[in-house]
Amino acid sequence: MIFINEHYNKLKASYLFSHIAKKVEDFQGKHPHREVIKMGIGDVTKPLPNACIKAFHSAVNEMAEEETFRGYGPEQGYLFLREAIAENDFRSRGADISAEEIFISDGAKCDTGNLQEIFSMDTRVAVQDPVYPVYVDTNVMAGRTGGWKDGRFEGLVYLESNEENGFVPDPPREPVDLIYLCFPNNPTGATASREKLSQWVDYARKNNSLILFDAAYEAFIRNDSIPHSIYEIEGAREVAIESRSFSKTAGFTGIRCAFTIVPYDCMGYDREGKKHQLHAFWNRRQATRFNGVSYPVQRAAEAVFSPEGREEVRELTEFYLENAKIIRNSMSSLGYRCTGGDNSPYIWVKTETDSWEFFDMLLEKAGVVCTPGSGFGKCGEGYIRLSAFNSRENVEKAMERISLFLRY
Ligand code: MLT
Repeated sequence: MIFINEHYNKLKASYLFSHIAKKVEDFQGKHPHREVIKMGIGDVTKPLPNACIKAFHSAVNEMAEEETFRGYGPEQGYLFLREAIAENDFRSRGADISAEEIFISDGAKCDTGNLQEIFSMDTRVAVQDPVYPVYVDTNVMAGRTGGWKDGRFEGLVYLESNEENGFVPDPPREPVDLIYLCFPNNPTGATASREKLSQWVDYARKNNSLILFDAAYEAFIRNDSIPHSIYEIEGAREVAIESRSFSKTAGFTGIRCAFTIVPYDCMGYDREGKKHQLHAFWNRRQATRFNGVSYPVQRAAEAVFSPEGREEVRELTEFYLENAKIIRNSMSSLGYRCTGGDNSPYIWVKTETDSWEFFDMLLEKAGVVCTPGSGFGKCGEGYIRLSAFNSRENVEKAMERISLFLRY
């Protein structure tokens, strides 16, 4: 008899964004003539930068010739891309990261979901609340939590992020082993200062814990005092793994390319207290389960760091940030308190009403899709998230409709 992994039964029936997609599909089925504007899932709308397209085409052409054709690539990614990342994203900002510490992958979602596999089952896990659901659900699937009770999974430590702490929690009083931090934050759009991140790094060093730092939205940071990487903080190499993505930066949501840094100094412990390099564990995991990202996609990603690519990526992020400003200003002028949207593509809006009711109302009356805050956790109740990834026309139209509907 084939038995199921019963931990899956603890989860809600469907993943947050799949559930929203289904609700929108049902709505469109009932109202085929209503135009719906999607500001829910953070999916980019602008095409790939020209520099990436050129590199992509040229790599596809290489695959068409026997002399330049490539089969399996290195599971860790091609060195040309790892070198470009190490130099441009880290060393140029004073963060000491080598190409060999970078693992190329097909998504930060996959990496942040998969990384928990290399840790023991009794790892005490801390997550921010509200939280990107992948960190929670993958630990539930693995069996690291109890059941769902009062809007939370038993066994997880929830780090409440709210208006009082500026949506950046302090380290907990109790020791935890694995800490998921995401800045600029999904969903709140909040950013963490150097001082705050230093507090977390100090905590992790003191407790021999590990920070899993999700920096998928770092390219949207405009305030120079905000760190882009946790490795800008002294001591972080010993206690932090960082994930990043080309998805939101360069429009790669459809072609998939991301990376995770596992520094050689990052250690895990066995029951005898002996240290083990997490780099070796992650390398073993990737080599076994993953065959790398396709060569043309990695060449396209490399082009992000060319002079033309950098300029185009800057334009892309500027465009979405301008959308974010429009959204934030419109919602604020309607009297809603907002976070994010300045160094982040997400705007976290305090509605003070049931999040799912607000979602339904916005869809019904304005034909606009948002993400209900409670979908990200208990502390998200009474909020919605609006995504700035859309065309200017849609953002303006959505804001006009919301203004009309919320005014009456
Ligand atoms: C989001 O909307 O939170 C993201 O698009 C989800 C993701 O990147 O997987």
